[in-house]
Amino acid sequence: MRKAILAALTTAAILAPLGPPAFAHGSADSLREAAPRYLRIGSAVAGGGHHVDQPYPDPFPNDRQYRRVLAREFSSVSPENQMKWEFIHPARHEYNFGPADAIVAFARKNGQAVRGHTLLWHSQNPAWLQEGTFTKAELRKILKDHIFTVVGRYRGKIQQWDVANEILNENGEYRQENIFIRELGPGIVADAFRWAHQADPHAQLFLNDYGVEWPGVKVDAYATLAQQLLAQRVPLHGFASQAHLSMRYGAPDQLAGVLQRFDDLGLKTAITELDVRMDLPASGVPTAEQLATQATYYKTALDACLAVDGCNSFTIWGFTDKYSWVPVFFPSEGAATVMWDDFGKKPAYFALKKTLAEAPRRR
Ligand code: G3I
Repeated sequence: MRKAILAALTTAAILAPLGPPAFAHGSADSLREAAPRYLRIGSAVAGGGHHVDQPYPDPFPNDRQYRRVLAREFSSVSPENQMKWEFIHPARHEYNFGPADAIVAFARKNGQAVRGHTLLWHSQNPAWLQEGTFTKAELRKILKDHIFTVVGRYRGKIQQWDVANEILNENGEYRQENIFIRELGPGIVADAFRWAHQADPHAQLFLNDYGVEWPGVKVDAYATLAQQLLAQRVPLHGFASQAHLSMRYGAPDQLAGVLQRFDDLGLKTAITELDVRMDLPASGVPTAEQLATQATYYKTALDACLAVDGCNSFTIWGFTDKYSWVPVFFPSEGAATVMWDDFGKKPAYFALKKTLAEAPRRR
């Protein structure tokens, strides 16, 4: 009984909006303080993935200054890699919960929500899964057990789960690289949502993808899928745009309209992985003009979320260039985050803070 009451209180604490700020918004010292209570401001928590090959120790456990900024600035955290299959489920009968547990504990200590990332994806799956030979029934059981084990472990401690990540390609078709979709058919997506909901009835369950920042076939396909899932009473609660932006392709000036389309279906929306990369000059240092343009991209994305009633979470994919994934994947681009390597703040940081401070306190 005591356990049940504690669990209920914990869940209520996670799902409740942040308490009232004890300062004038305009003079807020951090993004989280500047933000209205209805909006979580998040960052990815650097670790695993590309960091493994970099000449520094794993960031989150080893960089105290990094953790201090993470706690100060953000009211939500997303494990960058630490809850992905290859990390958390390295062998068929072995889970590695330590790093994810540490992030969840950190979040609770610092009054932060957690976005769980991710349960059904084509990438960063362990070799035992990707290269294994399983019957359809075995594969289905593997996914079901994984979802019950991972979602169940953090039951009541996760605000939102990216249940299905990047399941459609740019033509709006199911990605055949996704082993579960290829082998079991697209119906497995609905099952993943049902299992996640059973494992944690309070978590908000999301579709999450990139390339959905402008209207087009991919957005159309997600809207159709969302409508189908909702018609089947599948526990789908939200649609998220990752928003990995490049200054080569223009500002996300239609993102509000895209999010509104899903809001109109009755879904929550979120921006989950925002960053804004740019082509670096030979010096490697962005020009003042580039930084100003970058700031407008960040602000446009935030304005889109603020404009849509059900957009309740705004997350950037890392806050310091020191640990950004961008230069690893796009060698001539970089400077994609809101802080320099030494945590100095860029114009994009100040643009976000000012926009948050000026946002309506209520919707
Ligand atoms: O798979 C290889 C492995 O075979 C090799 O031994 C190892 C060492 O070189 O590298 C492994 O690949 C790495 C992978 O993480 C798996 O750990 C890549 O080099 C590394 O670049 C990769 O980085 C992560 C990436 O997801 C993988 O897709 C990044 O840290 C992470 O920031 C990034 O995050 C994704 C989101 O989850 C989903 N949306 C897009 C976003 C950016 O790509």
